[in-house]
Parts: sequence; C-alpha cells; structure tokens
Amino acid sequence: MSGPNTEYDPVEVTPLRADEVEAMRDAALAAIAAAADLEELKQARLDHAGDRSPLALANREIGALPPQARKEAGARVGQARGAVNKALGERTGVLEAEHEERMLVEETVDVTLPTSRRAPGTRHPITTLSERIADVFVAMGWEVAEGPQVEAEWLNFDALNLGADHPARTMQDTFWLEPAVAALVLRTHTSPVQARTMLTRTPPIYVVCPGRVYRTDEIDATHSPVFHQVEGLVIDKGITMAHLKGSLDHFAAAMFGEGISTRFRPSYFPFTEPSAEVDLVCFVCRNGDASDPADCRTCRGEGWIEWGGCGVVNPRVLVACGVDPDVYTGFAFGMGIDRTLMFRHNVEDLRDVFEGDVRFAAAFGVEI
Ligand code: DAH
Repeated sequence: MSGPNTEYDPVEVTPLRADEVEAMRDAALAAIAAAADLEELKQARLDHAGDRSPLALANREIGALPPQARKEAGARVGQARGAVNKALGERTGVLEAEHEERMLVEETVDVTLPTSRRAPGTRHPITTLSERIADVFVAMGWEVAEGPQVEAEWLNFDALNLGADHPARTMQDTFWLEPAVAALVLRTHTSPVQARTMLTRTPPIYVVCPGRVYRTDEIDATHSPVFHQVEGLVIDKGITMAHLKGSLDHFAAAMFGEGISTRFRPSYFPFTEPSAEVDLVCFVCRNGDASDPADCRTCRGEGWIEWGGCGVVNPRVLVACGVDPDVYTGFAFGMGIDRTLMFRHNVEDLRDVFEGDVRFAAAFGVEI
C-alpha cells in the first residue's frame, strides 16, 4: 500500500506555476502601464484584476492543490495580485491628475471674448419716477390728468392769465408751430392741463399731471429743450393755502422720507395769487439735523433744495376756465421731474437723462 502523497507536482496545476503567475502579473503590469487614459485603465482593471482575470481564476485553483502546496501557491498569487492592485492604484492617481490638468486647460472660458447676446433694455428712470409721483397722489384719491404736447396757444398762455402782451410770456421761450395762424405751441409747461381739466370737469377736482414739456433752451448740464414737469391742481369749496402746504409736505415726505417738509418763499406766477416757490428740506443734511449743511454737496450748503412753484389759483384763471370763483377756490403746483431725479439720485449732468444710453437707465434697476 502506498503512503500518503507528500510530494506534489505544481506543474499539474498549470496556472499556479511560478513562471505562469509571473507572466500573468507582468502582463497585468504592462497593460496598466500602457493605459493612456482612465477609460483604458478601466479595461485593464477588468482584464487583469476583475473576477474573470487570469490571476483571479488562478486564485480559485488554489483549493485544488494538496494542503502542503497551498501556502506557497497562495503567497505567490497573493503577491502578484497585490502588485497588480498597487500598480492600478498608482496609475489611477497619475491618470486622474492628468485628466484634471487637461480639463483645466480644455474647459478654460475666455470671459473677455465678445458676446453675440444683446443687452436687454430697461425702463427709463423718468418714466418710473413719473409713475411713482402719480402714485403718491392717486393714493390720496387724486386722478391722473393728461393733455397734448402740441397745445393751443390759448390754453398754454391766455387761459392761465398770460395774455399776448404779458411780460411773463417771455419767461418761457416757446417753440411755435407753423402755420402761425394755427396758434399752436409745443407746451412750455404742464399748466395748460389745469385749464383743460377745469374746462372738461366739474369741481371738486383733484388731479396730478406728469408730462413732457418744451422750451427753446440750449442743451447743457442743467438745461434741455425737452424736459418733464408734474402739475397738481385742486379745485373745491373752501380750499386754502394750508391745504396746498399740507399736500406738498406729504408729497415731499413720500418722495424723500419722513421728516422732509417744505417751505414757501413769496414769488410771482400769473396763474396763482398768492404765489410761492417751494423748497424742500435737504434730504441729505436735513438742514443741519443729520450733518452740517456747510459740508453738504446735495444742497450746496443751503439746507434747502429748490423744488418748484405753487400758489392759490388766480380767480381770473377760474373765470377763464368756467369755474365760479365765488363758490370755488383751489391751489396748483408744478415741479421739474428731471430736476427731482437729478438731486434725488445725484445725477450731475442732465444730458445723461436724455441721451438714451441704456447703461444710464440700467443703473436705476428694473422697476415695474
Ligand atoms: N408752470 C410753472 C413753470 O413752468 C410752474 C408752476 C408754478 C406751476 C406755479 C403751477 C404753479 O401750477 O402754481 O415754471
């Protein structure tokens, strides 16, 4: 009877022969080294370290060996697989770093290249400010009134107590339209809307009218032949200068903040009697309440900002427009919207308001 077979012949389990395992390992290492990118490395991993790779299959054969032979074969295959895994790990690191570097170069965006995209337009700040002003009065129950920019001479002047020979007519340098007999002008102020309103409605009248007006002024940093005004008119029973003051104080606070009120300086307008110029407490230095007016660039040391004109509607205007001055009284006011925009937003040059550069309007943001 033969004794136990202590000899074994590894040659019989071919995949576990030292030279075979070495060849598998070398083939794996060569494939890993040859992988040019992560995709190829993935394939090399499947071929040489996957479940069906020669080394994995050889590993499975170990169980078939006699017990004494398993240890050595196991160590051999284990070392080979370890070497393959280590090479895979190293190659992955190298290829990932290369990939990242390539991405940084290939995906670079040149932000200085010109774009074909058109910048969107934006609403003009004169439009949004006009609407905001109208809203202040609409919130008090007033209505918005309108009139044409090509206006009858009679409504622009005569109805407002500015007869043909009235010296104040020359205060407003006028664009006259041809033919002269048509007696048409580009309206020089929004005040003709007062006359139109009184002629078409019966009191009580509470209207505000923002609009575009024209004068033959040369263009410079503070003048333009086209600009914008807002007119206010109230006709009712028992209306006094106090109602005017209260309305303008409310308007000032709504536009410039709580605590910003107005003062009146005696003045002259043909359509109001008495008449006043309206000043606003400077909303930056607050006339000394916030800082020394002497340092203030907004009011240039005055503490007050000139805002517009106002007064109690002249009875001659009421009569010309069919309102009985024995029953009704009223007040009116008018201010420049462009001027208001300029000091409210520190616009230094009026030309920026009219030149139509979208960058100027866009700086005010989008307001609906
Ligand atoms: N229309 C005047 C101007 O353009 C401004 C003005 C002053 C309007 C007094 C008024 C007012 O309604 O009462 O200079």
